[in-house]
Amino acid sequence: MNGVQVLGIDIGGTGIKAAPVDVTTGELKAERVKVPTPHPAEPDAVATAVRELVEGFGWTGPAGITFPGVVHNGVVYTAANMDAAWIGCDARELLAKAAGLTVRVLNDADAAGMAEMQFGAGMSQRGTVLMLTFGTGIGSALFCGGALVPNTEFGHIEIGGRDAEKRASNRARELHEESWGKWAGRVDEYLDHLEALLAPDLFIIGGGVSAKADKFLPLLSTRARIVPATMHNDAGIVGAAIAAA
Ligand code: BGC
Repeated sequence: MNGVQVLGIDIGGTGIKAAPVDVTTGELKAERVKVPTPHPAEPDAVATAVRELVEGFGWTGPAGITFPGVVHNGVVYTAANMDAAWIGCDARELLAKAAGLTVRVLNDADAAGMAEMQFGAGMSQRGTVLMLTFGTGIGSALFCGGALVPNTEFGHIEIGGRDAEKRASNRARELHEESWGKWAGRVDEYLDHLEALLAPDLFIIGGGVSAKADKFLPLLSTRARIVPATMHNDAGIVGAAIAAA
């Protein structure tokens, strides 16, 4: 049976990815297309890239779009790894106009978490679940009894006087050419802080790095269960689509 399809678009610091998604199964219905994020990643330039992706799919239905910052009712409040011109921008209005579609805009980690909870590592998990994405920054999505608490931004808690994502993101690992062991130590310290604050039942570790979970997950010592995300690079696209359905 063919379910409802929604175009999922995932805006990141390095690339913008899109694919139509069957929101009843979480399956991509066409191959994902990725274009580089324009630099500087200003609103109009990003909106043009989004329009081109929409046109490339010949899409006329609804679309869900992620953004790597706090998004409240379509308005962007923070943009740690994007151009500061986004702050205060009504992304829903801008992107809907550029794409000529009805769109929903939400935080990227929230979208990825929704996808994992519905179709991936968090399926049928209740209690307190914290999904973390380790990429350019650190994104967080908190679920209590299956319900999302949006825009949590736990990538920006301070550890040793520094923003956690500056120490423990995947970009920090690459930038400092750290071994997996050294980086796992930083991630472990970060998770310790989060356990002290939230006492989650389950951590789901996402972002591109989740494909290499065997290199660092066994080195972590959380009390809570910890599992890799299973939807890898598709989680943002799928989550954007289900949020907009
Ligand atoms: C942003 C978050 C985002 C995360 C992952 C952080 O710097 O503040 O909103 O979810 O990066 O992209």
